Amino acid sequence: TEVDLNGFPHYMLKEIYEQPETVRNAMRGRLDKDSATAVFGGLNLTPNQLQSVKRMVLTACGTSWHAALVGEYMIETLARIPVEVEYASELRYRNPPLDDQTLLFALTQSGETIDTLAALREMKRKGHPTMSICNVVGSTIAREADGGIYLHAGQEIGVASTKAFTAQCVVMSLLALYFGRLHHLSYESGLRIIEELERLPDQVERALETNSHARRIAEKYANCNNFLYLGRQYNFPTALEGALKLKEISYIHAEGYPAAEMKHGPIALVDENTPSVFIVPQGAVYDKVLANIEEIKARRGPVIAIVDDDDSRVAELADDVIHIPPVTDFLQPIVASVPLQLLAYHIAIARGCDVDKPRNLAKSVTVE
Ligand code: G6P
Repeated sequence: TEVDLNGFPHYMLKEIYEQPETVRNAMRGRLDKDSATAVFGGLNLTPNQLQSVKRMVLTACGTSWHAALVGEYMIETLARIPVEVEYASELRYRNPPLDDQTLLFALTQSGETIDTLAALREMKRKGHPTMSICNVVGSTIAREADGGIYLHAGQEIGVASTKAFTAQCVVMSLLALYFGRLHHLSYESGLRIIEELERLPDQVERALETNSHARRIAEKYANCNNFLYLGRQYNFPTALEGALKLKEISYIHAEGYPAAEMKHGPIALVDENTPSVFIVPQGAVYDKVLANIEEIKARRGPVIAIVDDDDSRVAELADDVIHIPPVTDFLQPIVASVPLQLLAYHIAIARGCDVDKPRNLAKSVTVE
């Protein structure tokens, strides 16, 4: 491949480190401070069509599906538009009742995933306006959708998606801002969101400083064969994505779960050899997650916690903590994913796995 490793040992690590730049690229030219909204060049819908969107369906596979879940939380909260997230392979055959004010978004790094393409075609056939959120310019899904938004993350080579995921989350936040401003969101709130987005690349940069600490923690737990990843609200999808990263490249069984739902099943797995990775930055459910951590500790489960820089309470409960810069709740998945990517990377390395080309997986799955 013609993309240089730039001195990194693997593409995955290189792509993790590109994220301050790719996060910036995903929002470049798309923030309009005068109107306190986001602007997109390629939606190809009339202002009237956009204004009358009453519902959204986000469809995707794999990591892109996790970005769609983050998008659901963002859009419902900031834009107050009902959103449904569907696995593309399910949407295609499920034939859900959708009306003509439903907008479909297909999220896909490659733009070639066959399940996502088939779902898009089925929705188009039924007359729904379709949008792609793609990284690869000119890909099949980007061409077939009525309109779309590119991630501008540059070529992603590591099979485990990293920079495309965080770029997708950024684009979802821009969409939430855009649709919010078409409806109830005030100028002032819009401006606040823009300012938070502008600070994000630096915060992602600071999250990369967790690397050597993440490596030490990885070496400590690398021989465990089961992991739980737990988070709530915006960090429930973060937990799913953290678990998927570990599974994909280290072949360790890992489950992501909403932290509170853990007591309805996964807690049965907890023992001294089953670490739980909690994503617990400050926010509305912080105290509740602390209670969930205590439940794990009471069963002698090791706890690794991703917490805000200024947090001291979690350190009293957890075995290991990783500090990230504090950000507003809807941007937490972007910043918190960085140490989770690094943790998965270093665990895989410690186990001697081929992180860029994990067994049984393909960068883009073009068979159903
Ligand atoms: C494959 C890859 C994943 C990716 C998924 C969806 O399973 O291994 O990393 O998330 O496909 O790919 P897409 O290109 O549609 O985002």
